Amino acid sequence: MNLQSINRCDQRAREILQKNDRGNYTVPTDGLYPFQWNWDSALVALGFCAFDPDRAWREIETLLSAQWDNGMVPHIIFWKDDEGYFPGPAEWGTGTSPKTSGITQPPLAATIVRELLDRSKEDFHSRAVPIVEALNRWHQWFSDARDPDGRGLVAIIHPWESGRDNLPDWDAPLCHVDTSGVGTYSRRDTQHVHEDERPKKLDYDRYMALVQFGRENGWDPEIIARDNPFWVADAGMNAILRRAEHDLVDLAQTLGLSRIATQARARAQRLDAGFEALWSEQLGGYVSLDLRHNEKARTLTAGTFLAFYASNTPDRHARRMLDTFHLWSKKVRYGVPSFDPTSELFDSIRYWRGPVWAIINWMIANGLERNGHAELAVRIHKDTQSLICNEGFYEYFCPLTGRGMGGDAFSWTAAAWLAWASPNAGHSGRSAADRNQVPGA
Ligand code: DGY
Repeated sequence: MNLQSINRCDQRAREILQKNDRGNYTVPTDGLYPFQWNWDSALVALGFCAFDPDRAWREIETLLSAQWDNGMVPHIIFWKDDEGYFPGPAEWGTGTSPKTSGITQPPLAATIVRELLDRSKEDFHSRAVPIVEALNRWHQWFSDARDPDGRGLVAIIHPWESGRDNLPDWDAPLCHVDTSGVGTYSRRDTQHVHEDERPKKLDYDRYMALVQFGRENGWDPEIIARDNPFWVADAGMNAILRRAEHDLVDLAQTLGLSRIATQARARAQRLDAGFEALWSEQLGGYVSLDLRHNEKARTLTAGTFLAFYASNTPDRHARRMLDTFHLWSKKVRYGVPSFDPTSELFDSIRYWRGPVWAIINWMIANGLERNGHAELAVRIHKDTQSLICNEGFYEYFCPLTGRGMGGDAFSWTAAAWLAWASPNAGHSGRSAADRNQVPGA
C-alpha cells in the first residue's frame, strides 16, 4: 500500500463518518440502517476520535441519553421516523421517549470510553463522569435482568442482541420459537441488499416472533427471564461485557469513583468465573450455551476468539484456540471469518455465517496483542487493510475472494480504519506496556 492510497482511504473514511453523521448520532449506513444503533455508535465514536474528539464524546452521550429507567441501553434509537426500516417503533411497542427497540446490544461503550480518554489530548475527565455512571447502571442491569441466578453468564433474548444476527449458533435455540402468530410483514433489508447476503425468511419469522413476545409482555425483565423462548449465553456478548467491566473498573479508578470501581470489579470477577462454563473441550473453544435447554453450540465462531479480547485465558485453552486459528487461516484468503470455514454450515457471503467484519477483526487483534500474540494481530491487521483498500468501506467481506458486501459506505468499517487499520491510526497515549496489559491479570 503506498502513501497515496493510504491518504485516500483516510480521507474517504472521514467523509463516510461525516456523511452518515446526523448531528448528535451517526447512522450505520444510509438506507439499510437509518437510525442510531448501539454498538455501531460506540465504534463510530472511536473513529471520530481520530479527527474530532468532541464529536466522539457526543456520540456516546446521545446513545446514553436513551437509557431506560431500569438501566438498559437499547439496541436501536429511532430518533426520526423512517419507512425504509422494518421493524419500526410500532412493532417494538416500547412506549419510551425517545422511541427505541426493546432489546440491547453488546456493551462496547465502556471499552471505547476508556480508549477515548486515553487517546484524547484534551482533558475530558469531567465529561466522562456522568457517562461512567450511566455505564455502571447499564452493566448492573445486565447482571440483574440477564443473570438473575448470578451464575456469571448473561443471556441474550434475541439474536439481534448478539449483533451477529444469523450465526448458526442460534439455529438450534430458535427451533423452540413458535412462528405461527407472526402473520405477514414486509422486510425492507432485502430492498437494500441482495437477499443471498442477508438472513433467510425463516430466521426473520423467528426474529419477529421474539419481538412480538417482548411487546406482548411489556418488555418486563422478570417475565422475559422466566418465559422468553430464546435465552442463550452468547460467547461474544459475554466476552465483550467481561472486557467492558474490567475497563469500567479502570475508568472508575481514574475518575476517583470508588463505589463504581468496587461494583464493577465484583461483577467482572463473577463474569470471569462464569465464562469458563462456555468452554467446549470437544471443540477446543468457547461456544454459546442455550441456557433454557442446557445445550452448547456445536461449532466455533469468530466469537470464540473474543475470549482473548475479554481478559486473560487459561494457557491450555489459549493454545487450543490458536491451533484452530491457524487451521482456519489455511481455509480462507482473508481472516477472520465470522464462522468456522471447515463447517458445512459455512457460507462465505451470508452475513454472520462466514464473512469477515472489520470491527470484529479489531477486537480479535486487540485481544491477541494484549495476550502476547502480536504476530497474529499483525496478520489480521494486514488482511483488514487489504480488504478495505482493495474493496472500499463495506459492511462485510467475503473471506475467500475479498469481495465487499452488504451496505456500502459503512460507518463502523470507516471507524475501524481510522482507529486501527490505517497506518496513520491514532494510538493511545499510554505506554506500550500498559496497553498490552490484560485487565485484571
Ligand atoms: C437488522 O435489522 O438487520 C439489524 O441487524 C437488527 O439490529
